[in-house]
Amino acid sequence: MPPTISDIHSLKRNEALEILTQISRVEKKTFPTNEAFPFGEELWRKKPNTRVLYATQSREGNAPELIAYAVYVRQKGVALLHKVCVIESCRRQGIGGLLMSYIQERLRREGCQYIQLWVDKAREPARKLYQRCGFEEKEQIPDYYSPGRAGIRMTLDLDRGV
Ligand SMILES: CC(C)(COP(=O)(O)OP(=O)(O)OC[C@H]1O[C@@H](n2cnc3c(N)ncnc32)[C@H](O)[C@@H]1OP(=O)(O)O)[C@@H](O)C(=O)NCCC(=O)NCCS
Repeated sequence: MPPTISDIHSLKRNEALEILTQISRVEKKTFPTNEAFPFGEELWRKKPNTRVLYATQSREGNAPELIAYAVYVRQKGVALLHKVCVIESCRRQGIGGLLMSYIQERLRREGCQYIQLWVDKAREPARKLYQRCGFEEKEQIPDYYSPGRAGIRMTLDLDRGV
């Protein structure tokens, strides 16, 4: 079955909390503590500019499982993409690309013009994914994440229709 991508705002409270708990678990495994995004209930309740998207997939006839998620914050014509993550066992199967296409399409439809993000220079797979989606590296700041870990700012102009 192909993955299904949804928004936690389309869920009822209990369903949203269950997904947020699952996302939190993956987040803590994937990112250092100081970079782990807080996936609390308030994201569902009262943050209309913050969107949490998630992808699920049924494998071998089992119930759908969380396989990926993304978070962005929309401020007028610019969206700041905070997170994109695919669970380890599902990487290199096109899911990250699918999620990025979904986000780009949705933001374009909503009239957003740019997507901006910061990525750790050492996160090669993420940098490659963003480049492949048409993002350009705009600046690099040494020690952005912590001493020795540079951050790269990347942007995508959605009007260019990449
Ligand atoms: C970055 C990440 C989201 C990519 O997800 P994915 O589902 O594996 O990506 P895809 O399979 O859609 O790959 C799309 C393209 O990205 C690039 N890419 C992805 N993983 C790569 C890797 N390990 N090495 C090199 N290029 C890679 C390739 O260009 C790839 O296209 P290809 O497979 O046709 O060569 C995933 O590796 C991840 O969750 N990493 C940990 C979290 C993270 O670093 N998030 C980004 C910062 S918030």
